[in-house]
Amino acid sequence: MADGKALVLAAFGARGTGKTAWVKQQITALKPSRLLIWDFKHDPALDGVGKPFTSLGAAILELKKPAFKVRYLVDHGRDFHAQFELFCLAAWESGCLLMFVDELPEVTKANKAPPAWRRCVNIGRDYRDSKGVRKWLSIIGAGQRTKECDKSFIGNADVIHTGRLTNPTDAKELAQFLGCDPRTLLTLADLHWIERRVGQMEPTTGKLTFSGKKATPAAPAKPPLRKRP
Ligand SMILES: Nc1ncnc2c1ncn2[C@@H]1O[C@H](COP(=O)(O)OP(=O)(O)OP(=O)(O)O)[C@@H](O)[C@H]1O
Ligand SMILES: [Mg+2]
Repeated sequence: MADGKALVLAAFGARGTGKTAWVKQQITALKPSRLLIWDFKHDPALDGVGKPFTSLGAAILELKKPAFKVRYLVDHGRDFHAQFELFCLAAWESGCLLMFVDELPEVTKANKAPPAWRRCVNIGRDYRDSKGVRKWLSIIGAGQRTKECDKSFIGNADVIHTGRLTNPTDAKELAQFLGCDPRTLLTLADLHWIERRVGQMEPTTGKLTFSGKKATPAAPAKPPLRKRP
């Protein structure tokens, strides 16, 4: 990864459209030496991405190392909003890392972002920590609905990427950011995407492809959805 080049990437799409698969490919391409993941649903699709932690305290301790790949499996038996606040505070203080927050709508709302998250998104590009040390944060966030993600996250994104959306209001909103017809976003096939990178006049389109052993036409079965608290 071009460590030091702070990016914000936003990934949207209905369930099963390929958000997490796309994010995994971005992480592989960016090659971060310091990676911190908020794994809300203990996603089997993230197996093998980073070292899993069920204790937030232990995960945060790991951030003291010069290099790490930490995937925190959110504790659904406790207040996960409080956990998210702590997670974001730790990311901020550690800095110089790529953080990936999956299932973003579980912890943000359109007009209400947790303060520590908002600070990461709004001023994490280049900042000083509590000891005055200069730091940066790259951030990837993914969610099914734009309407349930905080607006400053979408507004700060260097890359907006989406698969098919099911909600016309979401499609209309994201089409404005992408510069495309909202109807296109409502009719994309699974694994097909549209994205726009900062500085690009026109959106680009594509389809996720997979290499290696798992790139078989038969997709792995998805486990039953966990009951959300
Ligand atoms: N390595 C792979 N090889 C082949 N297909 C894959 C591979 N990884 C993911 N897929 C396909 O991508 C689909 C989308 O999976 P993904 O977990 O990215 O969806 P998602 O948009 O994150 O969904 P959700 O909102 O439920 O988390 C899977 O159902 C599977 O068909
Ligand atoms: Mg996913």
